Parts: sequence; C-alpha cells; structure tokens
Amino acid sequence: MSYDPAVANRVLAGLRPFPVAITTVDGGFANGLMSLSAGSASIIPEAPRATISLTKYNKTHDMVSNSGIFVMHMLSAEDEQVHKSLEILMTLGGSSGRDGDKIGKLRTKTGVTGAPILLDAHSYVEARVMGTLDVEESSIFVGDVVATEILNEGQRLRIGDAWSKLPAEWIAQYDANHEPQLANARARRFGAKA
Ligand SMILES: Cc1cc2nc3c(=O)[nH]c(=O)nc-3n(C[C@H](O)[C@H](O)[C@H](O)COP(=O)(O)O)c2cc1C
Repeated sequence: MSYDPAVANRVLAGLRPFPVAITTVDGGFANGLMSLSAGSASIIPEAPRATISLTKYNKTHDMVSNSGIFVMHMLSAEDEQVHKSLEILMTLGGSSGRDGDKIGKLRTKTGVTGAPILLDAHSYVEARVMGTLDVEESSIFVGDVVATEILNEGQRLRIGDAWSKLPAEWIAQYDANHEPQLANARARRFGAKA
C-alpha cells in the first residue's frame, strides 16, 4: 500500500465518459462551458438531481454560483448531428466568456429558468442549485431538475469519440488554454507553494 498519484489517476480515469455542455445566465449575460464532471445526484426517481464540478477559474463557475441555475446538455453522436456536437464543444470549451459572447454563436431557445437551451444538443436537464460544496479550486453544484427534453434521439457522444474527431489545431489551443487554469487551481489548493 502506498500513495501514488499516477496510480490514483489510472483508477479514476474515464469514470465520466460523456462530455456535457453547461449553460447558465446571470445578470442578463448568457454563457457556458464544457464539462466532464456530470453526474446524476439523486436516488429518488421522481425527484432527479444533477451534479457538476466547475473550477473557480472559469467564468461559468461564478455565474452558476450567483444565479443558482444551470442547464446540462448531452451531445449527439449520430452522423447527421455530430458536427453540431463538435461545434458546441469547441465553442464552449475553447474560450472563456470573459473574452466575449459564446452563446450567441449557437442556436438556442430560453428555458424555464431563463438559461439558454442549446437546440443542437442531444438532450438536456435544466436545474436549480440546491447545494454547493466548496473544494478550494472548484465548486461541486447539485441541482434539482426542473425541466428536461430530448431534442435529438439517438446515441450520446462519448469523450473518446469527440477527441478522435476534433481538429488537431483546436486540441493544441485547448491544451494551451488549460495551462493557466491548472496554475490557478494549484495556487488555490497549495497557495504560495504552487
Ligand atoms: C472535454 C472538456 C471537459 C471539461 N471539463 C470541465 C469541467 O468538468 N469543469 C470545468 O470547470 N471546466 C471544464 N472544462 C474547461 C472549460 O470548458 C473551459 O475552460 C471553458 O473555456 C470555460 O469557459 P468560461 O470561462 O466561459 O466558463 C472542460 C473542457 C473540455 C473541452
């Protein structure tokens, strides 16, 4: 028995295979990001809950924290829809709402909470936050589902398929953008040692 972070990462890798597109609205500004932290958070079938973990570096984190609402979208893996899924993933996961409007580039309608629904997603649950756990560099949000819809029937996109289809230049840009996010997380976790 020992502590080896590399072994821990092997054990923990791939537990959440579906990337989700999170959207929210706060003070009239709509925004969103991609996440691999989506989960179901209720054992009561008639009262579903959803959970996401967002890093504090991301604008969407503060917006969900302030507004108390988020929409979690699954993306489609079907041939006729997959290019739309990649467009959503690249738009929301490739830059920050701090640098400009991302949601305006996507087809949307307004949900019951006021947050944007991505019409080219596979499906969504819309949620109101009922609990938040602060874990230094991130917050884990749990929301009561208040609305839901299947927009495009068929298989849901898995992250392995998405990575294999994403352009190499976009992945390189994503990796570069990830560096300051990681540095920010380390600073929040370890303080001056980071
Ligand atoms: C596949 C994928 C998974 C991601 N998972 C998360 C996640 O679970 N939590 C998070 O805070 N950011 C995650 N990100 C990063 C954000 O989507 C990204 O930093 C985004 O640009 C933040 O935008 P914002 O500043 O407008 O919120 C992920 C990105 C990708 C492409």
